[in-house]
Amino acid sequence: MDNLKDMKNSVEEIGHNAQGQTTGSYLKEGEDIAGTMEVIFSVNEEVGALAKALRLFESHKINLTHIESRPSKRNRDQYEFFVRFDPEAPGVKSALEALRSSAASVQVHSRDTTTENSDHDDTVPWFPRKIADLDRFANQILSYGSDLDSDHPGFTDAVYRARRKEFADIAFNYKHGQPIPRVEYTEQEINTWRKIFTELRKLFPTHACREHNYVFPLLMENCGFREDNIPQLEDVSNFLKDCTGFTLRPVAGLLSSRDFLAGLAFRVFHSTQYIRHYSKPMYTPEPDVCHELLGHAPLFADPSFAQFSQEIGLASLGAPDDFVMKLATLYWFTVEFGLCRQDGEVKAYGAGLLSSFGELQYCLTDKPDIRPFEPEKISVTKYPITEYQPIYFLADSFQDAKEKLRAWSHTIPRPFSVHYNPYTQSVEILDNKDHIVNLAANIKGDFDILVDALQKVKM
Ligand SMILES: [Fe+2]
Repeated sequence: MDNLKDMKNSVEEIGHNAQGQTTGSYLKEGEDIAGTMEVIFSVNEEVGALAKALRLFESHKINLTHIESRPSKRNRDQYEFFVRFDPEAPGVKSALEALRSSAASVQVHSRDTTTENSDHDDTVPWFPRKIADLDRFANQILSYGSDLDSDHPGFTDAVYRARRKEFADIAFNYKHGQPIPRVEYTEQEINTWRKIFTELRKLFPTHACREHNYVFPLLMENCGFREDNIPQLEDVSNFLKDCTGFTLRPVAGLLSSRDFLAGLAFRVFHSTQYIRHYSKPMYTPEPDVCHELLGHAPLFADPSFAQFSQEIGLASLGAPDDFVMKLATLYWFTVEFGLCRQDGEVKAYGAGLLSSFGELQYCLTDKPDIRPFEPEKISVTKYPITEYQPIYFLADSFQDAKEKLRAWSHTIPRPFSVHYNPYTQSVEILDNKDHIVNLAANIKGDFDILVDALQKVKM
């Protein structure tokens, strides 16, 4: 790690925070929540009702590993409580029965093999079948946006925390099909954006991949990407929709890997809308609007990259937990921290690199270990989340990466194949003859068009 330290020192010397690092996506990395149970409940308004509900877990010897409150979706004057615990604890069943009899409402989400809403197979985890099903994830976030850790730069800033809650509330109440609410960013927020935008723009021409450099000026032209303006998610989402069908969806907090990847299957990217704390403009411990818009958005406008991202998402639907973790790792080393070869040079396409002034420079030096793109090896590679990556994987092209990923994803043990229907924005499960015949008919139609076009084009 000496090399890393040297790099960090040199970054500091030129006046930037040493940790110009963003932690990638809205994946909850580094914490495996498979095999946990989550319960969302609301209590009656009587005094002490929450304490009574919590005592119920205690009396059944259930150790809560996470608890938080959030505004109720059913009744705006009420709060809901979200708790997580080990489903194997002996008293779970009786505790839930007792909770159901005393609480105003109870919803249970199991992170192992939930069968609710599944019409397929008891052992297949539930997954969204149509794009509006993604609304359900807002209820399953792992932490609410204003719950900052004690080492977060904004932890002691009450104004910042209140602002984060405003953004979290927007996302929490968002429903598929609605325009993403516009936000008036403050002068202080725009100043933070300005610093990051100005520094990164200097590096893009030499460090970013060709696709990023092609799209970035279009975002400036069409979506208000300027140093004195933080673009609106709604405008960027509409732009992406025109380019590749990708859309943005505001997210209130961290999503599980399974939920986040499922969004990609529908060409939906869960995006933050808040900006990092002004005190550390070159550092954020979690993704923020700079990371999403400067790192991710340009690449989702590229058709080949969009398809690559969607294929990761489709592969994750109904996959066993260990394969979802492998796909999350593949996502990490590609969409977040991927490098590719272009015209004999190495360029960055991962959003974690393209939104980090320090790491974007570091990744193209001879300090990191750069390895060939082999999904089988990538999927089991460990990585740090709070420092520059010691290892990157180099793709020959998005096309090559896509083909290799596709071949690898056939190893996922899943008793069916899935196909995305862009007309209905739904996922079709190809597990019976009729579905497969329909798909074959559609492919035949496309194939006829291809043959016709080839005959008409002068080759
Ligand atoms: Fe990201």
